[in-house]
Amino acid sequence: MTDPRPAEVRWAEPGDAAAVADRIAAELAKPGPKRIAVPGGSTPVKVFALLADRALDWSGVTLCLTDDRQVPDDHPASNYGKLVAALGDSGVTVERLVEGAAVAPFDLVWLGMGEDGHVASLFPHMHALIRPGPAVIATTPVPLPSEAPFPRLTLNRRALKATAEIILVITGATKKQLVERVLGGADTYPVSDFLRGFGPPVTIYWSA
Ligand code: 6PG
Repeated sequence: MTDPRPAEVRWAEPGDAAAVADRIAAELAKPGPKRIAVPGGSTPVKVFALLADRALDWSGVTLCLTDDRQVPDDHPASNYGKLVAALGDSGVTVERLVEGAAVAPFDLVWLGMGEDGHVASLFPHMHALIRPGPAVIATTPVPLPSEAPFPRLTLNRRALKATAEIILVITGATKKQLVERVLGGADTYPVSDFLRGFGPPVTIYWSA
């Protein structure tokens, strides 16, 4: 059930990888089991390394990817492979994306964003061959994104919003300028719905 309120958006200060690691550690410190969705791509790698270096209790924590490329786990483009390599020995449970599966709500969703404003594998201006599902959809963007030219599995918008809070972690001036355009009213990007639509609060972590 999407939050019936317009998303409240704030900028974290600082917004660097250490601050993101602190936010994840704060979630782990809360009592009870936790479900956290994490993105793929390159930005998370630094945060995962920081988290792996900390003495955190990952028991009772389930990590699920927001999206993945449809490649074998040992393929360099596999988000699942990268996540397990970084945190697989921590005692965390890593939940696979399964096409057509339903997905339980999250306590925290961490979104990455491309320079085109895509989040997870929800791309703009692309014809996508989509096989719909209640939460996990298979999508083949056309054209395939140059940075990772593979068919995808991705949580859909409703699943990405089924959480108490969203953190959007971005780096570089280009992505910051795009987010500022969205906050100023640009509604044509996939990220726009998360920042200007109805849904959970969003905290933006930005670093140069
Ligand atoms: C993926 C990600 C994707 C990513 C953005 C940003 O599988 O590629 O889930 O949505 O978060 O493309 O990627 P970078 O962090 O590499 O810029």
